[in-house]
Amino acid sequence: MKNKINFLDLGTQPLANNYLTISQAKKRENKYKLIVCFDIISKIVSIRNTFSSKEMFNNNYPYRSSMSKTMINSFRELSKKIKSEFRPKKILEIGSNDGAFIKNFKKNMTIGIEPCSNIEKITKRLNFNTYAKYWSIETAKKILLKHGKVDLIYSANTISHIEDLDEVFKAINIILNENGVFIIEDPSLLECLKNNTYDQFYNEHIYVFSTISLNNVLKKHNLQIFKVERLKIHGGSNRYYIKKNTNLIKIENSLKLELKKEVKFGINKLSTYIKFAKRVKKSRKELIRILKKLKKRNNKIIGYGATAKSTTILNYCKINRQTIDYFLDTTKEKQNKLMPGSKIPIIKYKGIIDKEVKYIFLGAWNFKKEIFIKEKKYIKNGGKFIIHTPKPTII
Ligand code: TYD
Repeated sequence: MKNKINFLDLGTQPLANNYLTISQAKKRENKYKLIVCFDIISKIVSIRNTFSSKEMFNNNYPYRSSMSKTMINSFRELSKKIKSEFRPKKILEIGSNDGAFIKNFKKNMTIGIEPCSNIEKITKRLNFNTYAKYWSIETAKKILLKHGKVDLIYSANTISHIEDLDEVFKAINIILNENGVFIIEDPSLLECLKNNTYDQFYNEHIYVFSTISLNNVLKKHNLQIFKVERLKIHGGSNRYYIKKNTNLIKIENSLKLELKKEVKFGINKLSTYIKFAKRVKKSRKELIRILKKLKKRNNKIIGYGATAKSTTILNYCKINRQTIDYFLDTTKEKQNKLMPGSKIPIIKYKGIIDKEVKYIFLGAWNFKKEIFIKEKKYIKNGGKFIIHTPKPTII
């Protein structure tokens, strides 16, 4: 514990995906101190106060992977690549959500693990082999008994949500074939630091990995990254290709390059994080200034994309209904509910933006390209977006 140094305090926060029903509006929310720390030995960046998986990922989970074309296309492209490069016979996905990835494969060759049973049901109904379970040694053993070992394991935006990484990788070693490939995709710490996307930190994102820190944990389990791909997904993610470490493993140049870039940026140094924390404070000040100025002139501001990330921003900057009238979102599970903490209402997106709206706070900034194409009419008519990364701006 002594190795972990706090560097960023994002204030008191509610659980980010805990959207409130109208009747819950007056109830006290479960809150925690969102503090981010850096482990000077392992170089891992993590949040200080965590919740159990059971508290965060339950049968009432609102997040759906297939809510954006960007994600659907990304999964489709990766699936094509997996088929041609690795030719796996059996694939396991950890955090299969509503099946956006596994749907690209034949049903009998995929296994999905998704602990949120309301979401897992979606694929079960379609006769996929999915299990409403948390990823653990016990789950790996059960899958092994039923399906045998697998050739490929994929996990996008999930490993960083599980606190006990040692258990995660022990379980991987149980189920992965000796020559099998394990692919992890998660937001890149380097991009987070460069773009001041402090909203990558919230209760579910226990870790934001760098290649260096992830490699350090994997090595303990005799697992080795052999290739890294940089993706634009979620504001800059890394896709890590991993194998069991044998003499035969060929490490590609992309790993060396990524490690070099991270070292050059100072990802190993505490001073980098102290500077980042200062930029975050400045970002908050600037965002509040912009919003105040717009409200002073009686502008109506709404939000677009009721993301979990927005919860960090709204609660850290103390933005509420007096500033943002409502959020639009396409996710059924979030509609007619309230944003956690700030209690800003979430309204169903019906394809039309109210004419009175001249400014939109872009909660789903990670889908900026897709959303700007979708909202070209709003933009053409002079509508503006407010975005907090890399620094708060009106565009
Ligand atoms: P996302 O940024 O993927 O995740 P997180 O909640 O982990 O921060 O969430 C995107 C949200 O934005 C999701 O609720 C769906 C919504 N959305 C829209 O409402 N319209 C869109 O066009 C897109 C791309 C997303």
